[in-house]
This record gives sequence, structure tokens and C-alpha cells, in this order.
Amino acid sequence: MRILAIETSCDETAAAVVEDGRRILSSIVSTQAEIHAPYGGVVPELASRHHIENIVPVIRGAMEESGLDFPALGAVAVTQGPGLIGSLLVGLQAAKAIAFVHGKPLVPVHHLAGHIQAPFLAHDAIPFPALALVVSGGHTSLFEVPAEGVYHLIGRTRDDAAGEAFDKVAKLLGLGYPGGPVIDRLARGANDRAIEFTVARIKDGRPDFSFSGLKTAVLYHVRREGIAAPAPGAPVPPQVRDLVASFQRAAVTALLQGLERAARDRRPRSLLLTGGVAANSLLRAEAANTARSLGLPLFVPSLALSTDNAAMIGAAGFVSFRKGLRLGFDANAAAQLPLV
Ligand code: KG4
Ligand code: ZN
Repeated sequence: MRILAIETSCDETAAAVVEDGRRILSSIVSTQAEIHAPYGGVVPELASRHHIENIVPVIRGAMEESGLDFPALGAVAVTQGPGLIGSLLVGLQAAKAIAFVHGKPLVPVHHLAGHIQAPFLAHDAIPFPALALVVSGGHTSLFEVPAEGVYHLIGRTRDDAAGEAFDKVAKLLGLGYPGGPVIDRLARGANDRAIEFTVARIKDGRPDFSFSGLKTAVLYHVRREGIAAPAPGAPVPPQVRDLVASFQRAAVTALLQGLERAARDRRPRSLLLTGGVAANSLLRAEAANTARSLGLPLFVPSLALSTDNAAMIGAAGFVSFRKGLRLGFDANAAAQLPLV
């Protein structure tokens, strides 16, 4: 069962062909990071315009790389939401057109189901129930996954997503977009104990997260110390590297405290760490320590499968297909969409 999967929820135009939800026959990701970099964040109007330009070559590239033609496909899967509506619509229209012309089932995928299924592309014996921490630019959520394709939301951010905090801190310091990879790189070898940021504690006992306080603490620190953005191309001063390293350590601590607390409470048999922020080197290393102390196996996608891609949509599309989920040609994309 070969699925052509299409993902355009944010600023990556991606297409992949995945066999049986496991084997990646092709995967193409065209990132718009450079287009949005001058603005320090994704400009929705620019994103949809570039998806329109990129979608056909990206799909063609994924089909060519797979060595298959459209009739050989079993279904077309597409991210229906959540995400930027103008971006989602481009992928959805392309998927509809291909499904209609070639008479293939059109299968909806929830973007976060895609992230959660990403680790399953590399590991076929992940024990259930799993506890999944999904950390991206738009979400910071904990899901209990009692069986394949069953997702129960048990915790989420009360304000900013973790990736959003990385992006905003980088923007504040004039370090570029997306902020996560830049901060990850600058923090290496810097003093992450230079500033003691407090980690937000959610008082009502729910396994929720909060990152806006940390972001504001960084802002106050920058103002108090009179830290200015480095000139373009100039080396980043040690003071700024120590600051981003201290921020990163606080963000990682907050994420893993939430994961650990939920794991002790829910007693899963495995841990999943997915989403763009799962590409963070400190988070990957510290999550491995957390998993070891809990005595649980941890599954983290490769770097390429952590950030947005269509292979994960193909993996989740196979799950959706087996659940019997189908989209009609009158279906719409959804900027907000609960994962059920
Ligand atoms: O999953 P993703 O590609 O798109 C969304 O669904 O949002 O996640 C993008 C987010 C951005 O906020 C980006 O800064 C962050 O993931 N990110 C990272 C790293 N690589 C990407 N954050 C921290 N460290 C990284 N190495
Ligand atoms: Zn994502």
C-alpha cells in the first residue's frame, strides 16, 4: 500500500511516498526559511504564495524519486490541519486534484498525528501505551497513545509553544529565523548556568507547560543588561551565547519535567519525543537521561523527520486509511483541528 503524502501546514512544502506506513520510498522537503528569515517569523501570505510555486515540482520530485507513477498509488494523504489556512489549502487542493484524476481515496491527516507517527518510521516495535511529547513551533503537547492511531491529549502549553519561544528569543536578539537551530548551535560550549531562569510550575497539577514567562524573563534581561543585536555577519558575543544557552537549558528542563511527571503518573511503556524542537541537541541528550532514569525506552525521529516533512504524514496517512477516514472533494482545511 503506497501512499503519496502532502504537507503544507506552515512554511515547508513537502511530499513523500511511503509504503505501508513504514518504508519511505521518497521524501522531498522544500523549506521557505530564507524567505521568512528577514521577518523573524512566518509571513502567512508569503508562505501560501510560495507553496503555490513549489507544490507541483515537489510532488513531481517525490513521485520521480519513488520510481512509481500515480496509478501505482493506493491513496493520497494530506495534512488537513491545524496550521496556516492559506498554506493548508494549497496542499489540500493539490491532493484533491491528484485523487480525483486518478480515482484514489483521499485521506486526511492531523499534523500532530504526523509528528507522533514519525518515530514509527524507524522503529517497528514501539511498545504501547506510549507517552508522546510533541514540541513544535505551534504546539507543545503531551499525548497518551494507548494503541496505534489512538491519541489522548493530557497536557499542553497554556501560552507559547516551545519552538515559538526559541524563535522569539532569537528574533529579540537579532539572531535569525528559525531560532531553534541558531540557538542550538550558539549554545554549544557556552555557559548555560550564566543566568538562572526559573522554570514555570503549573499549580493545578495538570501536566501543562508555559513558556511566555521564560520569554519575558529573557526580554527583561536583555533590557537590563542593554544587550544589542550583533551586526549582521559579526561574531555573536559570549554574553549573548551564555544567555541563549541559559534560556535553552531552562526550556529543556521545563519540557522534561513535564514529561517525567506525566510518565510517573501514567506509567507508559515507552516515550516518544517528536516535532521540530525534538531536533534540539540538548533536549535529545537530556531526554535520553530522563528515559534512562524512568527505565523506559525513548524513540526520537531522525533530525530530518523531527521537523516538518511529508514522510510522517504518509505514516499517519496509513493509520488514517486503516481507520477508514476519507475526505470528500468538498472538504475544507482547518486552521484549528482537535486530534481525536
Ligand atoms: O515541527 P516544526 O518543523 O513545524 C511546526 O509544526 O511548527 O517545528 C518548527 C519549530 C521552530 O520553532 C524551530 O525553531 C524549532 O522547531 N526547531 C528547533 C530546532 N530545530 C527546529 N528548536 C530547538 N532546537 C533545534 N535544533
Ligand atoms: Zn510540525
